[in-house]
Amino acid sequence: MAYLNHITEAIGNTPLVKLNNVTAGIKGTVLAKVEYANPGNSVKDRMAVKMIEDAEKAGILKPGGTIIEGTSGNTGMGLALAAIAKGYKCIFTLADKQSKEKMDVLRAVGAEVVVCPTNVAPDHPDSYYSVAKRLNEEIPNSFYPNQYDNMSNTAAHYETTGPEIWEQTDGKVTHWAAGVGTGGTISGVAKYLKEKNPNLVTVGIDTYGSVFKKYKETGIFDENEIYAYATEGIGEDILPKNVNFDLIDSFIKVSDKDGAVMTRRLAREEGLFVGWSSGSAVYGALEYAKEHLKEGDVMVVLLPDHGTRYLGKIYNDDWMRQQGYID
Ligand SMILES: Cc1ncc(COP(=O)(O)O)c(C=O)c1O
Repeated sequence: MAYLNHITEAIGNTPLVKLNNVTAGIKGTVLAKVEYANPGNSVKDRMAVKMIEDAEKAGILKPGGTIIEGTSGNTGMGLALAAIAKGYKCIFTLADKQSKEKMDVLRAVGAEVVVCPTNVAPDHPDSYYSVAKRLNEEIPNSFYPNQYDNMSNTAAHYETTGPEIWEQTDGKVTHWAAGVGTGGTISGVAKYLKEKNPNLVTVGIDTYGSVFKKYKETGIFDENEIYAYATEGIGEDILPKNVNFDLIDSFIKVSDKDGAVMTRRLAREEGLFVGWSSGSAVYGALEYAKEHLKEGDVMVVLLPDHGTRYLGKIYNDDWMRQQGYID
């Protein structure tokens, strides 16, 4: 009988799909790594399971424990699936800008959700980072994975996503592009692919309102770069340890509107019903490709999550008009 022991065993081996229409006028081939095909519908399943397994091995997470994490939703989903498989409880802190769908989904898989204000500094006691840390201190036998600085995050992508892309492209991948949040995805894959092909170019997709691009280009952590933006999952007001700036060759910033409009194009023109940061990643990757991609080049861009989590936003015409993203 061909069955898995638990749904978490279905994580990984996601499809690589050619983009055919949004790439008009681009030289070379652009392929999308479709991560919503993971059971939790996002790329974050991969690192969530790895963080838990590594914590168990290190003796930090013990039977009956509680997993507490600050998450934009997708990591929480991955952690919740692994927690069900292994018998842990979950409490997640989310910023209130995250979509309602993401919060409902976490509750659906049995997690407790604590909603925190978005527009406070990371070190403010009410930020979703600080609340997660405080709960971890207060609740006995709890584990705070801290996806930003936990290097199991990068390792998950070095061990799975990177090798998958190398094998699926038969070693022909020349460019690798992904949105940067915790940095685990881009850094883990870049490490693996650059070991295989040192000439591989890595392009990080950043948001306006985030610190990454300026930090890469100047080495300055500029607080003036930080302001509220709407795109979910990428860009940061901190420098997570998982962002390996040495492995990212350049950053491109994508506006909320350009990302949102491209997300809808991916659904309509490619049949890829993806989330907002996927539109941002493709928009930024294609900006880079327009200038730099040559015939024969193969660019892989990662699409992190599924469109269902954005039905009230990107895929809602009224909301898109209210934001001024469409006429
Ligand atoms: C929707 C979405 N896109 C992109 C990312 C960024 O991936 P990473 O944290 O590996 O940089 C995340 C991470 O939270 C996400 O939830």
